[in-house]
Amino acid sequence: MKEQIRCAVLGLGRLGYWHAENLATKVKGAKLVSVLDPFENRAETVARELGIEKSAKHHQEVFEDPAIDAVIIATPTSTHADMIEQAAKHGKHIFIEKPLTHDLEEADRAIRVIKENNVVCQVGFMRRFDSAYREAQRRIQAGDIGTPLYFKGVSRDPGSPPAAFIQNSGGIFLDMSIHDFDIARFLLNAEVTSVSAHGNILVHSFMEQYGDVDQALTYVTFDSGAAADIEASRNAFYGYDIRGEVIGSEGSLLIGSLRYHDVQILTKRGSTHDIVPAFPERFKDAYLNEMNHFVDCLRKSEAPSVNEIDGKIALEIALSAQKSFETGQTVRLPG
Ligand SMILES: NC(=O)c1ccc[n+]([C@@H]2O[C@H](COP(=O)([O-])OP(=O)(O)OC[C@H]3O[C@@H](n4cnc5c(N)ncnc54)[C@H](O)[C@@H]3O)[C@@H](O)[C@H]2O)c1
Repeated sequence: MKEQIRCAVLGLGRLGYWHAENLATKVKGAKLVSVLDPFENRAETVARELGIEKSAKHHQEVFEDPAIDAVIIATPTSTHADMIEQAAKHGKHIFIEKPLTHDLEEADRAIRVIKENNVVCQVGFMRRFDSAYREAQRRIQAGDIGTPLYFKGVSRDPGSPPAAFIQNSGGIFLDMSIHDFDIARFLLNAEVTSVSAHGNILVHSFMEQYGDVDQALTYVTFDSGAAADIEASRNAFYGYDIRGEVIGSEGSLLIGSLRYHDVQILTKRGSTHDIVPAFPERFKDAYLNEMNHFVDCLRKSEAPSVNEIDGKIALEIALSAQKSFETGQTVRLPG
C-alpha cells in the first residue's frame, strides 16, 4: 500500500475550494501539493490560506510536475475533456467533477485516453457517498422493500447560479438532473431504456437566452421494468431541498430530509425547524467520503466504485433528456 498520494486541485471555485480544503486538512494518506486557478491571485491566495507548497496559473505546470500523482478537476464542464486528456497523457490519476464531459464524443475520447494511459478515474457523483443514499441502497440490496419498482427524485436549488455558470453548464438536465439519473441507476441497480423530459422557465427569465429552464421533470423507464420521475428546480426559495423515494413491492423507503440541524421548535404559533441552506452543507460529508474513497483506492491500487463509464452513462441519459425536452419526443436508450 502506498503511504501517500500527492494531489493537485484544478479550478478553485465553489467545488474546487471544498475539495482542496478536504485534501489539505482531512483526507488520510493525501498530500495536497499544488492548487491551480488561472484567474487573478486565486491559486496564490488559496495556497497561502491552506498552507500548500505550490500554486499555479497554467495547467501545464501541474501536469508536467513529477511530484504530483493525481489531479482533482473542478474546472468548468466545458474544459473537462481537455483536462482529462492532458492529465491521462501525463500519467496523472483523475478525480473529475460531474458531468464527465459536455458530449458523448468527448466522453468516448476521455475513456479511451484513460485506458491507454492506464490511469484511474473517479467521477464526482457524491450522492453515492452520502450516508442516506448509501444506506438506502444497502437496504434495497438486502431486500427490505422487496423489488424496487419506482424512484422519485427531487433536487431543488434555492436559486439560480450566476448567468456565467448557466451559460457553460450544459442546461439543467446535464448540470442538475444528472445526479438523480446516476443515483437512480445506483439504487434500482438497473439501466435506463427511455426518457421523456419537460421543462419551463417559471422565475429566471435570463435563462431563455441560453436555452435553459429553471423547472424540469423527466420520466424514466428502466430495463428491470422499474420507472422514475425526476424533478429539478432552481426555485426552492426556502432552501436546498434534496430528497428521494424508492417504492418497492413490499414497502417504500424515504431518503433525506429538509432539516439542517435536527431541532424542532414548538411555540403557540406552531412547530418549526431550520432548512438545509445549500449543497456544501447538505453534502459536506459526502464530498469528504468520496475523496477518501479516491485516495484510498489509489493507495491500495484498487478501482473506484464510480468511474468514467458511470460518468458516460449518466451523461448519455442527461443528453437524451435534453433532446427529449427540445423535441417533445420520448428518447429511447439501449438500456
Ligand atoms: N458534485 C457537485 O455537487 C457539484 C456542484 C457544483 C459544481 N459541480 C461541478 O464542478 C465543476 C466546477 O463547478 P463550480 O460550481 O465549482 O464552478 P465555479 O465557476 O465556481 O469554479 C470554477 C473555477 O474554475 C476556474 N477555471 C475557469 N477556467 C479554468 C481553466 N481553463 N483551467 C483551470 N481553472 C479554470 C475558475 O476561475 C473558477 O475558480 C463543474 O463541472 C460543475 O458541474 C459539481
